[in-house]
Amino acid sequence: MARVKTEKFPVQWVEINRQAFFHNVQEFKNRLGQAGLLAVIKANAYGHGLLEIAGLAAESGIDWFGVHSLEEGLRLRQQGFNQKILILGYLPLSGAEEAVRAELRSTVYNLETLKALAAAARKQKKPALVHLKIETGTNRQGIAPNKLGGFLNLLKKTPEVVLEGVSSHFANIEDTTDDYYPRYQLENFKQAVNYLESNGFKVPLRHMSCSAAAILFPETYFNLARVGIGLYGLWPSKETLVSCRLRGQSPLRLKPVLSWRARVAQIKTVPRGAYIGYGCTYRTTRPTRLAIVPVGYYDGYDRGLSNSAYVLVKGKRAQVRGRVCMDFIMVDITDIPGVKLEDPVTLIGAEGREKITADQLASLAGTINYEMVTRINPLIPRFIV
Ligand SMILES: Cc1ncc(COP(=O)(O)O)c(C=O)c1O
Repeated sequence: MARVKTEKFPVQWVEINRQAFFHNVQEFKNRLGQAGLLAVIKANAYGHGLLEIAGLAAESGIDWFGVHSLEEGLRLRQQGFNQKILILGYLPLSGAEEAVRAELRSTVYNLETLKALAAAARKQKKPALVHLKIETGTNRQGIAPNKLGGFLNLLKKTPEVVLEGVSSHFANIEDTTDDYYPRYQLENFKQAVNYLESNGFKVPLRHMSCSAAAILFPETYFNLARVGIGLYGLWPSKETLVSCRLRGQSPLRLKPVLSWRARVAQIKTVPRGAYIGYGCTYRTTRPTRLAIVPVGYYDGYDRGLSNSAYVLVKGKRAQVRGRVCMDFIMVDITDIPGVKLEDPVTLIGAEGREKITADQLASLAGTINYEMVTRINPLIPRFIV
């Protein structure tokens, strides 16, 4: 593996491990068999870097990308990515023309969107490719099955709009080992697909599988699975791993792709009884050597990690002391000899025989690994190693 020369880089950076990403892609491809793999790279590729991950995904032969917004799709097109790109979020009506021009697929659940896309397609003499999203029980985006008729009527009248896919999304597949609700949603989805087919629509693509479904339920694969968190080497949840074991399935061997590092900005020794940081929430119990690290909640290092998380310095744990500030944390290096100015600090990732996972930080901060990595400030440079 190419080593990153930290001294060349800014005060903090994110490393993306290409071999780990390729490995995870292969794990999912093996699991999915004949079904296609759509890489969910929305939200700056879950904080990993949109363009960096799109490049690796393209290199690994993935030809479907899922983004959240028109902007993300256009950015990929501007950078020359010619994969099939599905906008998973909301396409504003004013963006229909751009979406058609850039051949971005739109997730549709409003008649207004369908009409705007039809008008754009007519104007450009180019098909608008759409994926209808079915409401199966998540009650987020989606068309209630009893409203599908109106969409089909409009689709019949507008041949310039091509129904390429039909999709849905699970509500309760990561948080439980109970498969009742996913099965209920799957049944609703199948019924909606049957309804479309009985109305003369042959839908080429059906997709409702996320990472947890791809790991646990082959019956949800249809012909395309939308996989996000797993490609980044993170488990959707502990429950998913437990469910996997309970079902006697072999768990995927996922490798975390992201490491987050910074360097020491100052070293100082403070006496016993000194307060550290805003609110004086920590008071030293011994003369303490502190390293000041230029990372804070602005960067996505959650304030909930105040006085609870640790970082790695010289491969050893250094406890965060006091509150996480906007742009700094203070860590205790009293028991780590030889730390120098600008030495590397690991916030997420491995160093020596120690490691800090996104899951550990998420549990300390009272959130989930998805949020922990996704909120890493997009301005921090990402390097592929
Ligand atoms: C619509 C949709 N599909 C797929 C995914 C991927 O889910 P996961 O990251 O659990 O694989 C998400 C994630 O939030 C999503 O919103």
